Amino acid sequence: MDRDIVIIGATGQLGHDLCERLGPRAVGLTHREVELCERESLSQTLSPLRPRIVINTAAFNFVDDAETRAGEAFAVNALGVRELSLVCRDLDCVLVHFSTDYAFGLDGCRRDPYSEDDVSGPINIYGTSKLAGECFVRSLCPKHFVVRTCGLYGHHGSGGKGRNFVNTMLRLAREGRPVRVVADQICTPTATADLADATLRLIETDAFGLYHWTNGGQCSWHEFASEIFRLAGLTVDCTPITTAEFGSRALRPAFTVLEARRWQTLGLPTPRPWQDALREFLSSLPPR
Ligand SMILES: NC(=O)c1ccc[n+]([C@@H]2O[C@H](COP(=O)([O-])OP(=O)(O)OC[C@H]3O[C@@H](n4cnc5c(N)ncnc54)[C@H](OP(=O)(O)O)[C@@H]3O)[C@@H](O)[C@H]2O)c1
Repeated sequence: MDRDIVIIGATGQLGHDLCERLGPRAVGLTHREVELCERESLSQTLSPLRPRIVINTAAFNFVDDAETRAGEAFAVNALGVRELSLVCRDLDCVLVHFSTDYAFGLDGCRRDPYSEDDVSGPINIYGTSKLAGECFVRSLCPKHFVVRTCGLYGHHGSGGKGRNFVNTMLRLAREGRPVRVVADQICTPTATADLADATLRLIETDAFGLYHWTNGGQCSWHEFASEIFRLAGLTVDCTPITTAEFGSRALRPAFTVLEARRWQTLGLPTPRPWQDALREFLSSLPPR
């Protein structure tokens, strides 16, 4: 069997799920093995592997830290992705890259889902750095899939942070702590397992371009937390608060629901509702 797919960010939550699914077909590269910010590291690592497809899940994902570490955010999410795009172009391979719903938010009163045709406009450094990365992929690497997604959770926790919203909520609940969760930001939580499956379907096509992909439906973070507690059978004092009350460093858009319009035009299955993906995720956790 050809090992013709390379996954960058193999220890991250999405990278891990992709490696699991692809098994011996893929080479998973960790941050120790490849540095996105260095063209030499990328080309020396990728060239001998002669990949047909490179899937990049690596990113600087610290939304609040990006406000004070803009140089690092742009070094990885924008300039690093530029280097990767050039290397993939030179190797004539397909580049799959992930971006974010935080590419949107500037038109603050929006209440219907964003399609791939909507004009982007981020309101924080993280979103701006990711949007710059998208632009590099789209302009430099002809055979690309850029997939914007949202609110990822998986079994392996977000790399570096080692956690995600779901396991943070479960931990706080089990510690018996009251929880305050933002109720005025609407988006769509997405299981990395489902996104990994969708990615594998996408790369079977040659319909290159920009895609939105999340689980179906929408909710606030407070509604998401409440559903986690309900499905996990936990009674938790969970108070809805506003974004202003939460007071994070980075601005957060009020509404970033994405519509998977281009995905649907390929005739691929409609993403399942976020509640169904969450139920399956929770039921697959090891018993405590
Ligand atoms: N998490 C979300 O809620 C969310 C939402 C929307 C979009 N996305 C996008 O979806 C993709 C996957 O997210 P994720 O949550 O699975 O990511 P993740 O768990 O944070 O994993 C990112 C991986 O990238 C590696 N990495 C970081 N900087 C690197 C560099 N300079 N060179 C090489 N590797 C590097 C990390 O390794 P170390 O930890 O060892 O540094 C980690 O393994 C990303 O593009 C992200 O921006 C995520």
